[in-house]
Amino acid sequence: MVKPVKRAGKVSGGPRKREATKSAPNSMSSKGKAADASSQRVEVVSMRNAQPADDRLLELSLRPTRLAEYIGQSHVKENLRIFMKAALNRREALDHVLLTGPPGLGKTTLANIIAKEMNAYLHSTAGPAIEIAGDLVAQMTNLEAGDVLFIDEVHRLNPAIEEKLYPAMEDYEFDLMMGQGAAARSYKYKLEKFTLVGATTRPGLLTAPLRGRFGIVFHLDFYPAQDLEIICKRSAEILGVEIDDKGAREIAERSRGTPRIVNRLLRRVRDYATVEYDGRITWEVAKNSLDRMNVDTYGLDEMDQKLLRTIIENFKGGPVGLGTISASIHEERDSIEEIIEPYLIQIGLLVRTPRGRKVTPKAIKHFKDKLSDPGPAPGNLELFDSQ
Ligand code: ADE
Repeated sequence: MVKPVKRAGKVSGGPRKREATKSAPNSMSSKGKAADASSQRVEVVSMRNAQPADDRLLELSLRPTRLAEYIGQSHVKENLRIFMKAALNRREALDHVLLTGPPGLGKTTLANIIAKEMNAYLHSTAGPAIEIAGDLVAQMTNLEAGDVLFIDEVHRLNPAIEEKLYPAMEDYEFDLMMGQGAAARSYKYKLEKFTLVGATTRPGLLTAPLRGRFGIVFHLDFYPAQDLEIICKRSAEILGVEIDDKGAREIAERSRGTPRIVNRLLRRVRDYATVEYDGRITWEVAKNSLDRMNVDTYGLDEMDQKLLRTIIENFKGGPVGLGTISASIHEERDSIEEIIEPYLIQIGLLVRTPRGRKVTPKAIKHFKDKLSDPGPAPGNLELFDSQ
């Protein structure tokens, strides 16, 4: 919950007296679990799926609440700092902000930070949770000047409701039809000047009119290992666990460029460290614990592995078209393009070519020891022989 803090540049619109409402359903990816555990290994925690309640609470406690504590995404951070400062100086609400990027990179965290830095309340919801226009009008008429309305998964808004957002964002007005037929009446609500923060993992699914109404658009990228290492050390300090540089680095490198995964792996490695070691997380402790949890050395999850294995095993490493991959791994094309592939491309395991997707020699090397049965298929043999 965002608590008001006294600041010089508070947005005009009267004193704050209400508690913020916070009701966003947990936005989690639909992507699956990692590979089955062997007898030696425990089942790996699902990196992008729902967490147990206590883990989720702990995760929340590790998130930064001020911009100065936020590590990485320096482009976003710097620009946001300037836009917020300017809006505060003018005593205006911040322009509407769209945050795009894969799950777990800090979109919700940034929405919280924006509200806190703007000395405003955060009201949270999610696209699929707004079923009728009345749900939205209830949220919006509750907003005070400068407040932040966070809509997660904004690409999943019902189109009829999305249209109602346009005048709300542009003119701070909301039209609601009540009743039916001859008894139908249109009501116009005047809203306070608020900031809509929309978040989406699927920017390609946003309509042009909605996207065009956000004055500030940021894309969050996967974090480099150096940034994740700093995040890991910061979280370890908050948790009161001792960790050395190499221990933090090992966790960072296996976290799929994602702070949420860093924090989850850190908590699990801490469990091993306290039960089987002296409580300190060194490189050896981190490595052994992560190996036992079957965490891939590049942090690849089940869908990442499935996509790469399919291209290697069934399509001789590629090139193979997106439609064919989509049918083979039973995943939508959009999800492949927007959620799975960006990380694989960033770390150099996959390339997009005019003739389709191709795995790189680095991917083949990574899977060489893991492939269940490379078999006599000439394609596979060629691939491995060429290494
Ligand atoms: N915890 C999760 N994301 C973080 C970030 N970007 N900076 C600091 N701590 C974090």
